[in-house]
Formats: sequence, structure tokens, C-alpha cells
Amino acid sequence: MKKIEKLEMVGISKHFHTTRANHNVSFSIESGEIVGLLGENGAGKTTLMNILYSLIQADQGEIRINGETVRLHSPRDAIQRGIGMVHQHFMLVENHTVAENIALGFEGAPFFYPARYVAKKIEDFSRRYGLKVNTQEKIWQLSAGEQQRVEIVMALLRGADLLILDEPTSVLTPQESEELFSILRRMAGEGHSVVFISHKLEEVLSICDRVLVLRNGEVVGASSVEDIDKRKLARMMVGRDIIFNLEKEHIERGPLILEVKGLTVPGDRIEKAVKGVSFKIYQNEIFGIAGVSGNGQHELIEAITGLRKASGGSILINGKEIINTSARAVCNQGISHVPEERIKFGIVPNLSIYENAVLKQHHNKRFSKTLFLNYQSIKSHAEGIVRDFRITAPSINTPVKNLSGGNIQKLILGREITDEPSLLVAAHPTYGLDVSATEYIRTQLLKRRGKGVAVLLVSEDLEEIFELSDRIAVMFEGEIMGILTARTANIEEIGLMMTGSRL
Ligand SMILES: Nc1ncnc2c1ncn2[C@@H]1O[C@H](COP(=O)(O)OP(=O)(O)OP(=O)(O)O)[C@@H](O)[C@H]1O
Ligand SMILES: [Mg+2]
Repeated sequence: MKKIEKLEMVGISKHFHTTRANHNVSFSIESGEIVGLLGENGAGKTTLMNILYSLIQADQGEIRINGETVRLHSPRDAIQRGIGMVHQHFMLVENHTVAENIALGFEGAPFFYPARYVAKKIEDFSRRYGLKVNTQEKIWQLSAGEQQRVEIVMALLRGADLLILDEPTSVLTPQESEELFSILRRMAGEGHSVVFISHKLEEVLSICDRVLVLRNGEVVGASSVEDIDKRKLARMMVGRDIIFNLEKEHIERGPLILEVKGLTVPGDRIEKAVKGVSFKIYQNEIFGIAGVSGNGQHELIEAITGLRKASGGSILINGKEIINTSARAVCNQGISHVPEERIKFGIVPNLSIYENAVLKQHHNKRFSKTLFLNYQSIKSHAEGIVRDFRITAPSINTPVKNLSGGNIQKLILGREITDEPSLLVAAHPTYGLDVSATEYIRTQLLKRRGKGVAVLLVSEDLEEIFELSDRIAVMFEGEIMGILTARTANIEEIGLMMTGSRL
């Protein structure tokens, strides 16, 4: 089949019941281009690209390849025409190896030992692009960045001329993002084209040639990246100015809330992911942990929130030992948790917004009357979250699986931070969120701090760490390299500690 030189989507409209996801959207991309597709959570980006990939069909409009109208009935058709897509949420089979995943649905793989055949292909391919993937590992053993790479290799191996990446970097480390960008540049140089969806405006400006902005399902702007900057882009997306640097008021910290002493925690692949870590967090304080992910932050948080057994040390919350109890027991001590893998662990997709709004809290007195749930109070609680966090949804009865990615994130954040816990553990609280939701969440975290909550913030976004934290700890290979006061810390110092120098 002829290579895609130019692809156009013309007058695309799509409704889901009463929701207008796309309205008369036109979009085009040529060979060698990287085009950014931007817009607030729920603006219609994923829908538009799902239509192109033919996961769903448009109500109206058409797709043209090299000037000719084409009818694509399924992703299989799209793949055959040279369109590949890496989804916002991974679709890999957890218990299969990398090679087995890629072999699934790989045209031309032999009937017998398809994985072996594919493994060989992948190795040739990785050598050519410098994309490292170990074909024999199981998906569940991989970090998000590694899974991402598998999905990209899979799309490219199937021969994608046009690659759609739906928020590819929201879970990548800065190094992994850089790696991805050099691959994308190289692909564009070879005449592939890329549609890049992201909320990280700096990234979009650095990797894309031009951008298209959607709002409420409609195109509201387009520009080449030379003619636009971060502020203008944000204004185009949300229709108002965004504050990129929040004011943090000075507050005296209160009494000790969390004390971690000599904590050691095993990892999935190694014996000690956290090696004898100690720190304290006080009331009215945001304690930020910076570091490249994969250096023990994940295991540290799981141990504190009761999701993983520790092998040594102590975790005191308000003076009470909680190490190796249970997630429920930890929750009852007043610890809230915004988990890293929110879609996987934070929600039940088939349940409604209001049911998800009280997950894990249904035993709370506010929501139950003797043996029965108090639906009145659950629903008004849910409506409060939807209102405050500006979640776009037809109603609180909508199943969560019908929400856009960012709106699901907002719901989980809303649920975990509307109450005032003693300690709020927040892992990467703004990834996947649009600029105005990010501004809102950060403001909320500062507000909770003002009200006496102790916050443990883990983020790879140094800008976020600096903006919010009172003190900053840096983790490297399971240890804390040092703890700095945010007011006097500088970014170079933190950067060095992130690569293993001690304070
Ligand atoms: N299967 C579905 N059923 C019902 N509504 C849907 C469905 N898929 C998407 N929607 C709605 O369509 C709108 C657009 O969603 P879409 O996922 O395209 O947004 P998005 O721009 O990708 O947002 P995000 O940045 O949060 O990922 C949203 O209001 C969403 O709730
Ligand atoms: Mg999306």
C-alpha cells in the first residue's frame, strides 16, 4: 500500500448520548511532521484520535489519505493503512512477555512460535532505533517507561507511517521522555508523521512543528510553534490566563505527624528497594520527594500506606506504630493516598461517579446509616467533588469508564483530598491533568497545608516540587541523598543529588 504522504480528517463530529465530544473538527498532517493536539481534559483529543484509529466511528465527517476518501472499519484497517496508536492507558496483557504481547495480532507472524519470530524482529529493530526492550520480561515487571517503549515498538513494527501518541510522557521519567523525543525526531526525519497529545506545554513546544487546540470538542486555534509561547498556548486552551507560579504563604510548622525510621522495603525485582530511610513530616508542611522514579519512591509510599510489607524499621503516625498493618488500618489512622497508578488501583470503571466517590470510605459514618448506605449524602458528596474539581460529565450516575482520562484523575484526587486527613500521600498528583486542573490541584494542596494537613508529595516534576514543598528530600537507589529547605535549595544541587551525590 502507498505510504501516507498526507492525511486529512474533515468535518468530524461525534456525540456520546448527550455529550458532544467532537464538533466539525478538521485536521491534517503530512509526512515528516510532528503535530501537537492540545486541549483541556475532556476537550475531545482522545475521541478524535480513536476515530482516526477506527476504534470508534464518527457520526459525521471523513478521513482522506493522499487526497482519497477512505473507509476504515476497525483498528485492523487502520493498521493496514499505516496508522499506529499508543493509548493513553496501556493495553498490554500483564502476564505475557513483551514478545508474546507484540506477537498478538502481528500480521505475518508464523503460527508456530510466533513470539520467537517476533523477538528476533524486535531485536533488529531496537538496534536500528536504539530502543532498548527486553523481549523476555513480563509486562507487569516493567516500569511505565518500559511499557511505553513496548507499545511504540509494537506500532512501528506493524509498519506505522503515522504514529498517534496519546499522552506518552505523563508517566515517563525526564530521561525516558528525552529518549522518546530523539526517537520521534528520527522517525519524522525518515518521513513518518506523529500526532502528539500532551498537557506538558514545554514538551509540546520543543518537539512539535505545529499545534492544534480543541475546546469543548471544537477547534479553537492552530499555530506553528515558532509563533506561540506557553502562556498564549494556555490561554488558547482554557480561555483565560493561567498562573504558573503560585504564591506559597509562610506558615510555622506544627507538631510531628509522620516519623519514618530506618525503613527498609523489598522491591519486586530486588531485595531492598528502600534502604534504611529516615525522615519526619510535620503539620502544615509539604515534604517533597524528588528523584527519578524507580529509585524506591514507589515502594516507600506503598509501605507507608500499608500496601507493601516492610522488612525493617518503623513508621509512626501521630506516635502510633503502623508498619506492616494493613491499608485499611492505615486509612483509619487518617492517611489519604493518591496512588501513582490511579486508573488501575484508584477506581472501578463500571461503577458510577458517585459510587467511585466513596470507594474505601463507604464504612464512613457520614455515608452509612446503620446497615444501609446513605445515598443522599453520598450523592451530595459526589456532586461537591464534581463541582469543585470541575469534572466534565453528564451526571454523577455516569460510569467512570466513560470519562476522559484527566477527569478520572480529578475524581480520584477529589475523593482523596476533600477530607482533611492528618497525612496526605500524593504521588505525581498532576500528571495527565490539563493546565487549569493542575493549577487547581496545586492550590488545593497548599490550602490543605494551611489547614494543618501534613503532605508527602512525590513528583518527578521539579517545578512542582519547588513550587509546593517546604522541604525537599532526594532519593537515589533506595536512599535519601539529603534533605534541603526549599526556600534556599537550588535546582543544580537537587539535580546532582538525583544522580547520586550526597549533600
Ligand atoms: N465511551 C464514551 N461514552 C460516553 N462519553 C464519552 C466516551 N468517551 C469519551 N466521552 C466523553 O467525551 C468527551 C471527550 O473525551 P476525550 O476522552 O476525547 O477527552 P480528552 O481531550 O482526551 O481528555 P483528557 O485530556 O482528559 O484525556 C468527554 O466529555 C468524555 O466524558
Ligand atoms: Mg484523552
